Amino acid sequence: MDKILVLDFGGQYNQLIARRVRSMHVFAEVRPCGGVTGRDIAQAGYKGVIFTGGPNSVYDAHSPHADPSLLTAGVPVLGICYGHQLMAYLAGGGIAPAHSGSEYGKTQLFTEPNVLFRDVPRESVCFMSHTDFVEELPAGFRTIAHTAGCSCAAMCDEQRKLYGVQFHPEVTHTVYGMQILHNFVFDVCGCRGDWIMEDFISRSVDAYRRQLAGKKVLLALSGGVDSSVAAVLLHKAIGSRLFCVFVDHGLLRKGEGERVEQTLGRELGVNVIRVRAEERFLQRLKGIVEPEQKRRIIGEEFIRVFEEQAGKLGRIDLLAQGTIYPDVIESGKGDAAVIKSHHNVGGLPETMAFRGIVEPLRDLFKDEVREVGEKLGIPQDLVRRQPFPGPGLAVRVIGEVTAEKLRILREADAVFREELDRADGPAVCAQYFAVLTDTRSVGVMGDARTYGCTVALRAVQTDDFMTAEWARLPYELLEKASSRITNEIRGVTRVVYDITSKPPATVEWE
Ligand code: XMP
Repeated sequence: MDKILVLDFGGQYNQLIARRVRSMHVFAEVRPCGGVTGRDIAQAGYKGVIFTGGPNSVYDAHSPHADPSLLTAGVPVLGICYGHQLMAYLAGGGIAPAHSGSEYGKTQLFTEPNVLFRDVPRESVCFMSHTDFVEELPAGFRTIAHTAGCSCAAMCDEQRKLYGVQFHPEVTHTVYGMQILHNFVFDVCGCRGDWIMEDFISRSVDAYRRQLAGKKVLLALSGGVDSSVAAVLLHKAIGSRLFCVFVDHGLLRKGEGERVEQTLGRELGVNVIRVRAEERFLQRLKGIVEPEQKRRIIGEEFIRVFEEQAGKLGRIDLLAQGTIYPDVIESGKGDAAVIKSHHNVGGLPETMAFRGIVEPLRDLFKDEVREVGEKLGIPQDLVRRQPFPGPGLAVRVIGEVTAEKLRILREADAVFREELDRADGPAVCAQYFAVLTDTRSVGVMGDARTYGCTVALRAVQTDDFMTAEWARLPYELLEKASSRITNEIRGVTRVVYDITSKPPATVEWE
């Protein structure tokens, strides 16, 4: 299988570059830039290398650099933004701050005929985001594109197959960006486009059938996309020797537990053991209002229930996990402050002894996991479902969690999602749900005074969940959801819509 190496210099689009390449059916891996040499890439058989952008200037004392041997290994290289400047610098060129200041946003691009710009018009729009630029070309290179503010918007040394672009082809604002990446991957590197999901499935199933012959494997099934796809894939390889323990903490959305059990267990034949533990979780959550404490308690209890169940299954050889590629990529960006401790539920029980871990999806991006899921016959609504926090509705009931509050939230959430689904919500919003606030308010029903709960509705648009915009939903839709919730759900007197983006708010309320 042909593969491209995306060498990460800390740019925000590093994973996007790899996803774009993979969308052309060419496998791409992301690795941190440090310590990789020309020999490494030649030996590993990469057909090409892409240097990503990055926030630094090549002359900064601590800017990430690459081994110059990468340019002489005989493997084509495409440098993007910082990667373009670094390529020029390593090849002996000069970089300088642009006289006209930073160039940012959509910019008119003028290109020269070149293999990199095959089927790209001489004039088009690209996305720029830089302060420095290549002022002096290195020996052997020539300029092949410019903009009004940047005399070297692209360069190449055709002999050594080295290409650099100052703009970002991976971003959709660069209208011909995909064409440019395509030209590099196919025409310059000579890749074949043989990264096909059907092949991935059959290769994985064959490999696991051999590797796991006679072994018993345990998987913590959360009902989310990753663990469900991992379960069905492994089930295809080892059948009933895969034990999927589904800890139902009672904090799932309406009908979710049944749906997972029905679809994966009964329809797809996966060995699903659903452990009903709502009472236990509610007991442990009694009186707890602090969000991080809720998360910790749920995480601990989850492991306890999981371990107890595993103990009943006798000797288990391996633990399977739904780890995906973004979890594996080393970013080297340093530790960000912890806003929420996310990976608490479904975490590896450290005290359990396994002879190894199986991670069938560790090479895949989320969209590829969904594609595999679909090809494996998992229904669309499960495979395309929106993210759901591990601690579930516990972080959407503000304050103490009780069975009654969960009932109200579950119903309100189901109504809101139903209305949005009907209005093609998934095409517009990445996540939408209801929150049960701890504010009570006065209402009037018939001629009587009521005093009930306030439900908040939240719908956001985002690509990466690091930032999010509140969704501008039609008033009619909000009105319908509000009136259905107050009419159909006992105990709710008021519905509000959350109009805060992230930052400053987060997607979840807790
Ligand atoms: P925030 O609220 O941090 O959410 O803006 C970003 C994304 O992460 C999800 N989320 C969680 N996922 N455990 C999880 O597995 C958690 O504790 C958790 N908290 C938030 C959230 O739903 C959104 O998709």
